[in-house]
Amino acid sequence: MHILVTGGAGYIGSHTSVVLLEAGHEVIIVDNLSNSKIETIDRIKQITKKELIFYQEDVTDEAAVDAIFSNHSFDGVIHFAGFKAVGESVEFPLKYYYNNTVSTMVLAKYCLKYGVKQFVFSSSATVYGENDVPFVETMELLPTTNPYGETKVISERILTDVAKANRDFAVSLLRYFNPVGAHESGLIGEDPRGIPNNLMPYITKVAKGKLEKLRIFGNDYPTPDGTGVRDYIHVMDLAEGHVAALEKLTPGVHVYNLGTGRGISVLELVKTFEEVNGVKVPYEIVGRRPGDIAESYADVSKAKAELGWTAKRGIREMCRDAWRYECGV
Ligand code: NAD
Ligand code: UD1
Repeated sequence: MHILVTGGAGYIGSHTSVVLLEAGHEVIIVDNLSNSKIETIDRIKQITKKELIFYQEDVTDEAAVDAIFSNHSFDGVIHFAGFKAVGESVEFPLKYYYNNTVSTMVLAKYCLKYGVKQFVFSSSATVYGENDVPFVETMELLPTTNPYGETKVISERILTDVAKANRDFAVSLLRYFNPVGAHESGLIGEDPRGIPNNLMPYITKVAKGKLEKLRIFGNDYPTPDGTGVRDYIHVMDLAEGHVAALEKLTPGVHVYNLGTGRGISVLELVKTFEEVNGVKVPYEIVGRRPGDIAESYADVSKAKAELGWTAKRGIREMCRDAWRYECGV
């Protein structure tokens, strides 16, 4: 298939492009490089020894998107492009609502114009809000605590309505849990600008001595050791989940959790990282981070039953590969 990958120079998009190319698909990436580097495109080619087409364009720019669609005959679109920093979304809500929802609408519009019928969207477990764990796809979505989360809920609704109005349009809404780790080559991975917000990139920077110590946000949650519990998923498993979703896509809207189904606490992750990599991660316990929930993990039975996909890599591989990438950067 010919697949348009928006945000393909980014963290999850680059790993998914590798898996797509290795599965024999043609990949066309569009990315404005607002949160990624051009080198990543070369690294995808280096890993796969395959060619791909790259456009440095903004997917909210209708003329640019129109031109890309008119140059190719796509079988499907995987839409990763978007902003993802929760704190920044609180500070600059319009920047987030605009980029994340307009990009979705523009892409859906040109899919309809050019008869592209398959659309895979990067959603997030954040749409479950404070539902009880494990999160199941059939749950009612609860308000999220920030504009970023709302952009995911709104984009899901937009795509659902487009599919209702266009009966041959096929949409897969993939709700990611907590992607971590890197390609095992260490050539691509997560390289956030500035001080990381998310746990794993913070841990790798502390282990490397680039940051002094990890601050653990709260040890008084109702969890086994009091620290927050999340469903960390290796980014290569997540990437494989996209290819499975794309290859099984049929008209209508399909929602899948992409996680491992297993909750890991902050302390468990820190200890495993230290043990696997033989490094120290100094930490202190501080107060809870506003907007955090105690526990988040997936019910993964639907993806297994319908896509034949399950996450294969464990927490040790996630820690090993995240560290390997940090050491190579
Ligand atoms: P990322 O920032 O590494 O990648 C996003 C890419 O999109 C970047 O390369 C950026 O330059 C590009 N981009 C942003 N706006 C664009 C635009 N208007 N036009 C063209 N390119 C644009 O982020 P990621 O972690 O790879 O996340 C990919 C998607 O998955 C995002 O939609 C994100 O919200 C979603 N998601 C991520 C996580 C996570 O923990 N990383 C969790 C759930 C959902
Ligand atoms: C965060 C976002 C969420 C987004 C997800 C994936 C918030 C409130 N939520 O979720 O919307 O979908 O990232 O991008 O930002 N932790 C520490 N110290 C740190 C960093 C994190 O103790 O320096 C803890 C957190 O309290 C949490 C766990 O580690 O318990 C994971 O945090 P993080 O990696 O930021 O992911 P989420 O909170 O799940």
